[in-house]
Amino acid sequence: MTIRTRKELQGIGGYSQGRSAGPSWFKLSSNENPNEPFPEVLEAVQKHTAGFNRYPKPVSTELLEKIAARYQLPASRILLGAGSTPLLYQAVAAAAGVGDEVMFAWRSFEAYPLLALPTGATNVRIPLTEDGRHNLPAMAATITEHTRIIILCSPNNPTGPIITTAEFTEFMAKVPADILVVLDEAYVEYVTNPEAVNGLEEWEKYPNLMLLRTFSKAWGLAGLRVGWALVPEEMVGAMRLVGIPMSVPNGSAAGAIAVLDLEERVFERVRETIESRELLVQGLRDLGIPVPDSESNFVWIPTKEAQVAFDYYFDHELILRAFPPEGIRITVGESASVAKLLETSRELVEKLLTN
Ligand SMILES: Cc1ncc(COP(=O)(O)O)c(C=O)c1O
Repeated sequence: MTIRTRKELQGIGGYSQGRSAGPSWFKLSSNENPNEPFPEVLEAVQKHTAGFNRYPKPVSTELLEKIAARYQLPASRILLGAGSTPLLYQAVAAAAGVGDEVMFAWRSFEAYPLLALPTGATNVRIPLTEDGRHNLPAMAATITEHTRIIILCSPNNPTGPIITTAEFTEFMAKVPADILVVLDEAYVEYVTNPEAVNGLEEWEKYPNLMLLRTFSKAWGLAGLRVGWALVPEEMVGAMRLVGIPMSVPNGSAAGAIAVLDLEERVFERVRETIESRELLVQGLRDLGIPVPDSESNFVWIPTKEAQVAFDYYFDHELILRAFPPEGIRITVGESASVAKLLETSRELVEKLLTN
């Protein structure tokens, strides 16, 4: 006799991790921050290496208050998670059950289609525009009485473009106030376009808006697993109910507190990444590759030859992320990777053109 799993899970591929690399390789597959941890953060984390025979604090009020003070937000509405992904699961679990709909743009963050699995809600995917942007008018037009949660990703992973404030405002005017809208801003620190929506300027206008942020990207703490959400007042209780208790260890919270004190140095690194991104985008466009604008720490190459491209880069010790058949995503990593990426891309374009 075999154990029966839910039929909804059959045939669904899971979230695939980026592959790991040897020392001379560039691992550019998981949108990680390539910089080593700051010594101050390391020290703060190490202070918590003893004492783990005890459970962590249920919630790090120090971190909550630090985030609240930094972003001028009410601490009572901030939830912490082991990264921001669990907070997405909590939002869906709190808002959408069997028969309800979870809407998001597609292609977007690979975890989105998985969020509804535990609750049995239905995914509604709205295709991106040709240039890799959210089609917000189409999303608004697809809202039904079953829609419970809409997830927006700005900048969009894996394509890179932002949602503008004007687009967001127009969209929110069409969303009924009883539908939860999540604005996932995992990459917001890399945005330079002044027209981009920024949740911190919007949350007070919309009682149904949830903001999602992470320490995994610009802040460089992916391995510590810390994310946070600013949650609508009336969702706080429901989201706590469906969350896993004590999921942020004390050392991770201490690391996040420490890195918030290093914001200037964090943003120096962000600026370096943005410089590399611009070199990469321009270099790829110069090769005739139609790369969409990127406001994040990754660049999207739309190509039906995604697997061929992945293999070619892989043979050149560059680990990227393929999303066949739509395209391939390159994380903007070490500045030394840019020249290698561009040279390999030039060879690949020639190879594909001559084949
Ligand atoms: C758009 C988006 N949201 C959320 C996350 C989740 O990151 P974490 O769980 O590390 O906070 C990612 C990670 O790649 C992402 O791309």
